Amino acid sequence: MRLDGKIALVTGASRGIGKAIAAAIIEAGGTVIVTYKKNKDLAREVAERDKKGKSIAVQMDVSDRLSVKKAKDIVINKFGHLDIFVNNAGINKPNDFEKITDNDWENVLDVNLKGPFIVTQEFLSMMKEKGSIINISSVSGQYGGPRTTHYAVSKAGLIAFTQNLAIFCARKKIRVNAVSPGLIESEMAKAAKGLSIEEKILLGRLGTPEEVAKAVLFLASDDASYITGHTLNVNGGIYF
Ligand SMILES: NC(=O)c1ccc[n+]([C@@H]2O[C@H](COP(=O)([O-])OP(=O)(O)OC[C@H]3O[C@@H](n4cnc5c(N)ncnc54)[C@H](OP(=O)(O)O)[C@@H]3O)[C@@H](O)[C@H]2O)c1
Repeated sequence: MRLDGKIALVTGASRGIGKAIAAAIIEAGGTVIVTYKKNKDLAREVAERDKKGKSIAVQMDVSDRLSVKKAKDIVINKFGHLDIFVNNAGINKPNDFEKITDNDWENVLDVNLKGPFIVTQEFLSMMKEKGSIINISSVSGQYGGPRTTHYAVSKAGLIAFTQNLAIFCARKKIRVNAVSPGLIESEMAKAAKGLSIEEKILLGRLGTPEEVAKAVLFLASDDASYITGHTLNVNGGIYF
């Protein structure tokens, strides 16, 4: 799958799954706006993988509209349009249901659900016809997750958001899909260690960020030209 000449924005691409997605798009010939919240140096390293020298790192807190608008100004000035964007940035704060605080609930929903809403509202006008939007949901949003009610709710909401946005964007011939990873090796997955989840995965192992990135690459490419409003599971067969 090639993405030569395509311009993509990936939120939360300094590490983990977002980094693998950005790297895969660059490898496929695309240019990536690698966004991060705090880890500027890591984000720069990802952008520097682009041997064309066109990819850049940009700071953006997805839950803060002002921050997203600032990033948008940079992207408009430098690139003018987008072909692909991936709502990947997300956080988890695992806790037993009765111990989840209002603050944690709001924080998780703000980043995981309000974030994609703000980013999409701000960047949609920059999307070219035949563009592709991909939202990174989670198996937790489909089947519930252990100790993550707020996270599961945010990721279920992201699937509903994907379907609704697919309807809205169809008139512009923009496809909107979700990728729903299971347990993937990353900082976030460390919180689930010790919960014996691996025993429940049909393929018997955690997935890698690169395996998620391949699914995103497919949905971003013209090979997926007749797919919209879909949620693609990349979970090794995990059903809680
Ligand atoms: N790992 C899994 O097992 C798994 C499973 C299913 C779904 N997912 C989903 O996949 C996505 C990526 O997960 P991951 O495991 O790769 O996470 P991760 O390793 O913790 O990385 C999170 C990324 O999001 C960025 N970020 C955090 N808060 C942000 C904010 N408010 N605004 C903008 N960027 C922010 C971080 O930037 P800084 O580095 O600058 O802090 C970082 O780049 C998330 O949406 C997650 O819910 C993960």
